[in-house]
Amino acid sequence: MSNIIIVGTQWGDEGKGKIVDYLTEHTDVVVRAQGGANAGHTVYNQGQKYVLHLMPSGMLWEGKECVIGNGVVINPLAFIKEIEGLEEKGISVTPEKLRISNAAHVVFPHHRALDVAKEQRRGKGKLGTTGRGIGPAYGDKIERTGLRVNDLIQPERLEAKFRARFEQLTKTLEGIEVEDPEVTLEQYQAAGARLAPHVLNTVEFLHAAMRDGKQLLFEGAQGAYLDIDHGTYPYVTSSNTTAGGACTGSGVSPAKIDEVIGVCKAYTTRVGSGPCVTESEEFSDRLHAMGREFGATTGRKRRCGPLDMVMLRFTTMVNGLTKIAMTNLDGLDGLETVQLCTAYEWKGERLSLPPVDAEDWEDCTPIYEEMPGWSEDISGAKCLADLPANARAYLDRVAEITGTPIGIVSVGPDRQQTMVCDG
Ligand code: IMP
Repeated sequence: MSNIIIVGTQWGDEGKGKIVDYLTEHTDVVVRAQGGANAGHTVYNQGQKYVLHLMPSGMLWEGKECVIGNGVVINPLAFIKEIEGLEEKGISVTPEKLRISNAAHVVFPHHRALDVAKEQRRGKGKLGTTGRGIGPAYGDKIERTGLRVNDLIQPERLEAKFRARFEQLTKTLEGIEVEDPEVTLEQYQAAGARLAPHVLNTVEFLHAAMRDGKQLLFEGAQGAYLDIDHGTYPYVTSSNTTAGGACTGSGVSPAKIDEVIGVCKAYTTRVGSGPCVTESEEFSDRLHAMGREFGATTGRKRRCGPLDMVMLRFTTMVNGLTKIAMTNLDGLDGLETVQLCTAYEWKGERLSLPPVDAEDWEDCTPIYEEMPGWSEDISGAKCLADLPANARAYLDRVAEITGTPIGIVSVGPDRQQTMVCDG
């Protein structure tokens, strides 16, 4: 019986969706606790490809329950489209299967407009956001001017609060193209009515589920280096993507968590702006030529490089990882030598943990340890013994440096291409 948090250990896109989907078989309730539709989880289920943004991937399973926790920001129109997309594929999204926190915050069209406008104004210093309004929506939450799902489902309250907020923003929105607020109001009132049967106090629901002996799986979105506190600030998202965020974003105490699994790609990728010490054009070109590493939400080419163990050391600490799930190991097939960045050189110093400022990250150069690669195609490996000895040595070295066992290895998008390494 265990409650598990799944987090990304890098800059998102580590393949968490697939690992969550894999572990869902052994859980009862899948919970999203932070982020919004900026996330893009690609999951292959029974030959179908699903790209989920806000919907927990547990929705693809019969008999599993899903929760959107209080820490999430919801664009109700986009979310309803996601629900409809699933229903078209024969997956029914009932109120018993999907529960939405009444305390989650709502993303409005003006949040998206502000996100895009602020990025344009930043010019060269842009953050590379997904343009989904995430920063401005969390900004309102922190500033205590946000509207929550509990407002969304009460048409009169929504109208009063939305009008008041929109009026406050008159000056801020000057010169920015925003949807007609009357149209928004009408659409959001309809969306509120559509989602209302799913809305409740999810804290109470999750605690009742635990009392009934149900197991929870927290599906982290983005990755540790996009965490608003621990990431490469300001090139981060606006939520706590590390393990603690799963607790505050759901109302489940850390004392109830049994495991934290960190999903880590066998190499490093990043989308958007900001530092990426091991980024290499050659490494990126190679993966793009293999048809890999294009963003699920925006289609952008991801920036790629060898695995950064300096980052991984820090995320192991911050998240308290009990296991690592390594994905995309097959992306390294055919390399004569595989590299692990074990330290940074920064202004003549050798760093084993990353610096706090993005500017200082930019001045770091990677120090690599090299290991022999493997020429075999490993995508058909069914168990660790099927892997070439050099691939196993690579995994062992990652476990050694982080002091954390590799619990799962993934060598392809299908559920079958997943190996569990320990008992
Ligand atoms: P925002 O979350 O849209 O504000 O974007 C802030 C930063 O986080 C940008 O660099 C985005 O590219 C990045 N980001 C947000 N969500 C994801 C994700 O799910 N995967 C990878 N990067 C993300």
